[in-house]
Amino acid sequence: MLIALFPGDGIGPEIVDQAKRVLDALAIDGLTYDHGLVGGAAYKAVGHPLPPETLDLAKKANAILFGAVGDPDCDALERHLRPEQAILGLRKELGLFSNLRPAKVFPELAGESALKPEVAGAIDLLIVRETNGDVYFGEKGFRTTADGQREGYDVMSYNEGEVRRIAHAGFQAARARRGKLCSVDKANVLETSQLWRDVVIEVSADYPDVALNHMYVDNAAMQLVRNPGQFDVIVTGNLFGDILSDQASMCVGSIGMLASATLNGSGQGLYEPIHGSAPDIAGTGKANPLATVLSAAMLLRYSLGMADQADRIERAVAKALANGARSPDLGGTMTTVEMGDAVLAALD
Ligand code: NAD
Ligand code: IPM
Ligand code: MN
Repeated sequence: MLIALFPGDGIGPEIVDQAKRVLDALAIDGLTYDHGLVGGAAYKAVGHPLPPETLDLAKKANAILFGAVGDPDCDALERHLRPEQAILGLRKELGLFSNLRPAKVFPELAGESALKPEVAGAIDLLIVRETNGDVYFGEKGFRTTADGQREGYDVMSYNEGEVRRIAHAGFQAARARRGKLCSVDKANVLETSQLWRDVVIEVSADYPDVALNHMYVDNAAMQLVRNPGQFDVIVTGNLFGDILSDQASMCVGSIGMLASATLNGSGQGLYEPIHGSAPDIAGTGKANPLATVLSAAMLLRYSLGMADQADRIERAVAKALANGARSPDLGGTMTTVEMGDAVLAALD
């Protein structure tokens, strides 16, 4: 089983190091690792954020453990050379369309949530975010209007096949959990969303056991802080899912806690924290590595079929937190490496 390690930029290498230490400590036979350059680090080394060697490695790996990309030095580059194109390119080239972002409160962290502890304590939801389409991948550019103004544009679209496959992913996830699916869209304004809603309703015929409701994204953002306990699985498009998942992270305590898996339906997956490269704290030892450690657990569960080992990691994270492990984002003073130490010490 080959795991590709793509640390990337900013805090990426610091957090991937800690996740790798945890994987090593599990002493699983038959795992091999190979490193690849992505993001600004790749651009600076070889002139492209997703070099061909990295893409080849990604394609042959069983799973990818990804840190983060994004580098302020690169923000003025032409868009196709920017670090973020690495993650977008991997999602597209490998057909990784189903991005699972679970948000559940660890009881000890309910006090770190931006919400009241009793509201935060009820959160146990999964965002199923589509990651191969939407306004991210439509035609885009700059042009000049008839009256001479600069104009930027990005075309939003979904075709029915794209919606159908992510809808199935959402219904299947709901079936395996509490049987509730909330489809989030903006069908009151956007044709893309009307098509989304129509197709989700069609697909629902295959899942009579799942209770489906629809919510406009503005209301969903409000409900996520008002009463997040109402959600089981949320299925939504690329842009709305990006925004709602960062919001969900603060509802459970910190953006440093949310892991993700992005799957393509053939077992291959890319695993990464939902946060970015955090250039403001890179190199200071303040990054919380737990989202990446928990992403490694998802990797074992979804791509390697090693649920027992995934459970071991998740138990160790819970125990480390119960023992008081806290990085600065969680109100503590522990460094990235000390947080890794705490997880290692808690492994059973
Ligand atoms: P960010 O998620 O990097 O950081 C937002 C805030 O959260 C910052 O204050 C940061 O210090 C904090 N934070 C993030 N992760 C943390 C962690 N593990 N521990 C403690 N604090 C943490 O978002 P941003 O600042 O908007 O973006 C920075 C760069 O990252 C940009 O270039 C952006 O494009 C990129 N980005 C990449 C990914 C990815 O690689 N998948 C995701 C999001 C953003
Ligand atoms: C994420 C990030 C990416 C996204 C960016 C870096 C392209 O915000 O993974 O959540 O918008 O998908
Ligand atoms: Mn994001």
